[in-house]
Amino acid sequence: MRFTENFIQEVVDRTDIEELIGRYTELKRSGSNLMGRCPFHSEKTPSFSVSPTKKMFFCFGCHAGGSAITFVQKAENLDFPDAVEYLATRAGIPLPKESEAAVPNAGPSRRRVMEMNLEAAKYFRSCLFDPQIGAAGMRYFHEERGLSIATVKHFGLGFAPDGFGGLTNHMRRLGYTEDELIAACLCGRSQKTGRAYDYFRNRVMFPIIDPAGNIVAFGGRVLDDSKPKYLNSSDTAAFKKSKHLFALNFAKNGCAEKMILCEGYMDVIALHAAGFEYAVATLGTAITADHARVFSKYTKKVIISYDSDEAGQNAANKAMRMLGEVGIDVRVLKLNGAKDPDEFIRKFGADRFRQTLEQSRTGFDHKAEQVYARYDLSIGADKIKASNEICTLIASYWSAVEREVYLAQASARLELPLAVLKNSVEQLRGKQARAYAAKQSRDAVATVKNFGDRINPDAAKDPRAASAEETVIGLLLLMDEHREAVAKGSVALSEEDFVTPFNRRVFAAVMRLHEQRGSVPYELLGMEFSPDEIGRIERAEVMRRQLSQNGADVFGSAVETLKDAKKKEALQTGNLSDRLAYLREKNAKLHKGKAEKHED
Ligand code: UTP
Ligand code: MN
Repeated sequence: MRFTENFIQEVVDRTDIEELIGRYTELKRSGSNLMGRCPFHSEKTPSFSVSPTKKMFFCFGCHAGGSAITFVQKAENLDFPDAVEYLATRAGIPLPKESEAAVPNAGPSRRRVMEMNLEAAKYFRSCLFDPQIGAAGMRYFHEERGLSIATVKHFGLGFAPDGFGGLTNHMRRLGYTEDELIAACLCGRSQKTGRAYDYFRNRVMFPIIDPAGNIVAFGGRVLDDSKPKYLNSSDTAAFKKSKHLFALNFAKNGCAEKMILCEGYMDVIALHAAGFEYAVATLGTAITADHARVFSKYTKKVIISYDSDEAGQNAANKAMRMLGEVGIDVRVLKLNGAKDPDEFIRKFGADRFRQTLEQSRTGFDHKAEQVYARYDLSIGADKIKASNEICTLIASYWSAVEREVYLAQASARLELPLAVLKNSVEQLRGKQARAYAAKQSRDAVATVKNFGDRINPDAAKDPRAASAEETVIGLLLLMDEHREAVAKGSVALSEEDFVTPFNRRVFAAVMRLHEQRGSVPYELLGMEFSPDEIGRIERAEVMRRQLSQNGADVFGSAVETLKDAKKKEALQTGNLSDRLAYLREKNAKLHKGKAEKHED
């Protein structure tokens, strides 16, 4: 971690949280708090509260919550150190020097990697514009791919010359060590000599820039047909390929309504150059749940424009599902006569692309088209198969309105009476529901109860224990005295008493901060927990605060409930010695009870 705890606290202390959040949503005073509409989910009635005294926010609707740092992380899609830096700059607090903050022996920090990347990008760029060195690269961009010089400059494109030492020597002269260059993925390490050599050679270079404007990684393309076509940076302290999107730094400004998701760097560049500046691409990987969450922060609608080959269409189906899961309105583009958006624009121009964009189809239409394409609807047998598949597809939608809309469409397309199709969809739904119900054991009920709990996935296995844990944690956060009781040992509670790993982590962090500082500042919890996790932790506290009984007796019995749940769990899943221990303890209690009886 590059900032000290004291620095982080100073940043939060000197941030006016009311003014900060007020720039994202209108806040009105309500008692000692401020209320407004939540910037993280769409709502008509305000359920988002900000407490200027506690310097915290919490949404009663979506349970987003935390400190000013958490807010910036979520609102600006920054990771923790970036959010701290953002707020420090805003508050006019000078950043600590790299040498003071860097952890020894931990490899270069994120900032250091970004510094190296910036120097490397400058180097690649100067090579591209040097006719002695970069003529082939420039010819490739300009002539073969049709990019204007303005576009080349806009994206900061460059050229990595052939040879093993160009960048390495340049960077060494600037004071970076070979180990640092290797950790930043700018160099490889020679098996034979152990020395560093240029990782990217004889490739045109695409810098990958995060929304805050930092160069976090590179992609490099060969000029011919050699393999691999694209070489990308591996994950480093500054880069996670499962999370970053190419050109989001540009797209983030005009993408509230819609974004275009494509497969490749060149697709995005061609789209931006043609005026579609809300296009992005994942980086040499299929879309992940992290990507989907990033999209959901920036936009309502994503139009998927993948390659028109089979691989591209399969990838589109996956992307549809991932994006649908985070509540994004997903559309799919079908490009006729070109293999990808880049080729389409070069062949048919921006206006044709804009028209196609307007005709982009919903997920249902796209999947339905794939069904229709497989059958000849003028043949009876084919029509029956097609209508069965379409009905199965429609039955999979939860919303009755959606089903109605799709039924009407299918009825027209298949030339079958709506009532007949509807009947068959209802039957399928009945079957699905029965199959679903039959599968439910007690365990499954528990799973469904906490279904989709990404923050604490283990809660589903033992909901009773998980809820006892949340009560205990809520009380610990709410009252210093409960933490003190645990610290002194007057209430016996330890990490082993927790059932779910998430809450165990929370407990450990809370107690550590208590021991070290006597308080539990959320901004310091933010160093180890993601914004979503912080929201969950705050929810536990908020839930307790709303109740009137939070004293020592309540805490004591919450701890007992937890220990009880833990024992039950140990009995069910535990090994023999756990079980024996439990029985022995139970026995001892029993004897003790008898002995007491004898005494009186
Ligand atoms: P494509 O092979 O479809 O390339 O890969 P493209 O974007 O059309 O490339 P051009 O037009 O030939 O230049 C799509 C994306 O998959 C990743 C890259 O991000 C690329 O943009 N990719 C592809 C790799 O990471 N490595 C590869 O070897 C190939
Ligand atoms: Mn292409």
